[in-house]
This record gives sequence, structure tokens and C-alpha cells, in this order.
Amino acid sequence: MARVFFALWPLPEVARQLSAFADSFAKSAGGRATRQETVHLTLAFIGDVPLDRLPDLERAARSVRTEAFDLTLDQFGLWRHNRIFWAGCSVVPPALVDLAGVLGAALQAAGFDVADAGRNFTPHVTLVRKVKALNVPLPPGQTLPWPRPKFVLVRSTLSTAGSSYQSLAEFPLGVRAD
Ligand code: 2AM
Repeated sequence: MARVFFALWPLPEVARQLSAFADSFAKSAGGRATRQETVHLTLAFIGDVPLDRLPDLERAARSVRTEAFDLTLDQFGLWRHNRIFWAGCSVVPPALVDLAGVLGAALQAAGFDVADAGRNFTPHVTLVRKVKALNVPLPPGQTLPWPRPKFVLVRSTLSTAGSSYQSLAEFPLGVRAD
């Protein structure tokens, strides 16, 4: 079996900036900061699938046609119910919502059990998990451009040291005229 999910993956510079915010918030509020090499935005979480189903997952993702888009992360938030400190966008590109919806539908049509299947999609980048102090002020919003995110299928391996991620495949995201 492989534990897998689809995500947008940042270029190293964007990941570096986000992990610096994660480290700094975890220093004051406690919790586990996301490491630079694991920063991502989840599009669809699948969970455990048999290894011989991975080609079907890739095929479903390749069938997805949506427009390309750029992201701008410009807000931080803290969810009290699951103690997650996150970064997100005040204006979510419609093409990102489409991507999660169309991908969720394609995965379901291919017989995969997808958490939410893109219906309650709340795009966010988890920066700190298990935040201890919920009253620490959030950093002011920054404008952090994340151009042309990569759309990838990722395998997650869990260990006591945390999750390690391996990109299994990358998919094109639309074609633009410019
Ligand atoms: P998160 O970004 O909100 O933490 C890999 O585990 C990714 O899949 C994580 O980023 C996590 O979301 C998301 N994830 C893990 N388990 C999940 C679940 N049961 N339902 C939805 N998303 C999940």
C-alpha cells in the first residue's frame, strides 16, 4: 500500500519563506513547524491505496483540464479546533477551486474514496501543527507570490520523525495564451 495525496508544490524559494514563518510562529506559540521540504497545499487526500492502483490515480489526474493560475498567499490563520496555523489566500483563484472539484470528481469516477472530493475545499498551507498557545497574535499578512504552482501526486511515508514526501508524478496545469 502507499499513502498518497494530490497537492500543489511550491518552488524552493516560496517553501523557504513559508517555512521561515512556520519556524517563527512555532517558536512563540509552540507546536511542530512544517519543514521546508514538506511545505504544500493539499488538493485531494486519498490515503492508503494498493501499489497497483497508482497508474489509475495518475490516469485520473491526467484527465483533469483546468486553467493555469498563479497564487498569492496573503493571510495567516489559526484553526482552534485542530490547532493548525496556516497560510492562505484572501482571493482564491476560481481555477484552483475548479481544479480541486474536477480532480475530486475524476478520482471518484475512477473508484477512489476521496476525503471531501473537493466539495468543502479550503485551500491552505499548514505551517504549524499542534499549536500550544492559541492566543499568540498572528503575524501580519504578507504578500507572498507563488507563481505557477506544480500539481503533483505525492507519496507520504510516516515515521516517528514526521512525514517524508516523495513526488510520484507531476501534471500540467493548463495552457495560457501569455
Ligand atoms: P493539512 O494540510 O490540512 O494538514 C498529507 O497528509 C496532507 O493531506 C496533509 O497536508 C493534510 O492536510 C492532508 N490530510 C491528511 N489526512 C487527511 C484527511 N483524513 N482528510 C483530508 N486531508 C487530510
